[in-house]
Amino acid sequence: MAANFMPPPATVHQAVQPLAFLLGTWRGQGEGRFPTISPFAYSEELNFSHSPNKKPIITYSSKTWKLNTNQPMHAESGYWRPQIDGTIEVVIAQSTGLAEVQKGTFDAEQRIVKLKSALVGNASKVKQITRVFKVGNEELSYVVEMATNLNDLQPHLEASLKKI
Ligand code: HEM
Repeated sequence: MAANFMPPPATVHQAVQPLAFLLGTWRGQGEGRFPTISPFAYSEELNFSHSPNKKPIITYSSKTWKLNTNQPMHAESGYWRPQIDGTIEVVIAQSTGLAEVQKGTFDAEQRIVKLKSALVGNASKVKQITRVFKVGNEELSYVVEMATNLNDLQPHLEASLKKI
C-alpha cells in the first residue's frame, strides 16, 4: 500500500526569517519634497510577501495616491534578496521607467534595512538613491533620498505606515 504523502510544513526560508518583521500589507501616509519641486502629501499601500518553502525572496510592491483626491501617483515593485550574512540586494522597477539595484544591510534586532543604489538605470535626472526602512512601535517608516544631476543626496520621501 502506498504511503500517504505529507508535504513538509510551510516555513519561512531561513534567509528570510530575520526580515519576517516586514512581511504583510502596510498602509499609511507620506510626504515628498526636493529643492526643485513643490512639497506634496500622499497615501500608500505597501506589500512584502514571501512564499514559504520557496526561494529566499521577498516580493515587494508599493502604490501611492495623491492625498485627498486619491489620484494614482507613483508605483513600483521588485524583489528583496536577503543573504544569511546580513547583506541584501534589492531590485526595483518604477512606474516612471526607472530601474534600480540596491545593495545594503539589515539588522533583525534593530528592525532596520539600509539600502544604497549600486545601479540606477533609464533615469534622466537621478544619479543615486538611498532607502532606509525601520519597523518600531508597530509602524513601518522609511526615508528615500536621491541625488540628481543638479542636487546632492537629500530626502525626497518620508512615510509612516501601519500593518493592516
Ligand atoms: C519629482 C524621482 C518617488 C512624486 C521627482 C523628480 C525626480 C523624482 C527625479 C524631479 C526632480 C527635479 O525635477 O529636480 C523619484 C524617485 C523615486 C520617486 C527616484 C523613488 C525612489 C516618488 C513617489 C512619489 C513621487 C513615491 C509619489 C508618492 C513626485 C512628484 C514630483 C516628483 C509629485 C514633482 C513632479 C513635478 O513637480 O512635476 N521625483 N521619485 N516620487 N516626484 Fe518623485
